Amino acid sequence: MSFRSYAPGDFEAMFALDEVCFTPEFRFSRSSMRRFAEARRARVVIAEAEGVLAGFVIVHLEKMGGTNVSYVVTLDVAPDWRRLGLAARLMHEAELASTGCAAMLLHVFTGNEDAIRFYERLGFERSHTEEAFYGEGLDAFVYRKRLDPAQAS
Ligand SMILES: CC(C)(COP(=O)(O)OP(=O)(O)OC[C@H]1O[C@@H](n2cnc3c(N)ncnc32)[C@H](O)[C@@H]1OP(=O)(O)O)[C@@H](O)C(=O)NCCC(=O)NCCS
Repeated sequence: MSFRSYAPGDFEAMFALDEVCFTPEFRFSRSSMRRFAEARRARVVIAEAEGVLAGFVIVHLEKMGGTNVSYVVTLDVAPDWRRLGLAARLMHEAELASTGCAAMLLHVFTGNEDAIRFYERLGFERSHTEEAFYGEGLDAFVYRKRLDPAQAS
């Protein structure tokens, strides 16, 4: 497995993987996915095995209330590669790319039990619930993990 940053040629495979990973109400449109991946504040980690996309994570480096934070836009692992530690490695790489950030933040659907277990295992703590974040009746938990800004590089 190799890890690298995003190149525009990755986009179609990322979009296709996102369609496998999420049901329609949680998916990004093609244009918003491209915008999220190619934003100046984006840090994208691509995992590939023999040239084939196995997973990726997009984080955005943002300022929230005067603090630099790394916001996890999406984390996708192909079904054949799950439960092998790939998402944990992607999140580790994303932390390393989150230069100067004091925390990592994310939204996760309250019904996405697999992802909730995953994030809690990684040390994320639930902060609060945002009602209808994904649409009517689809609430999100906000999770947060403190980072050491001095250690990110
Ligand atoms: C959630 C997701 C990213 C996890 O990816 P993964 O590569 O399988 O995760 P890892 O192998 O790194 O898991 C590390 C640990 O997290 C926990 N975990 C991960 N997936 C889990 C699951 N389905 N059920 C229970 N615990 C899980 C386990 O403790 C696991 O360690 P273990 O396998 O030694 O028990 C993957 O299932 C996925 O892409 N799902 C669809 C997209 C999604 O929901 N993304 C997150 C949205 S915010």
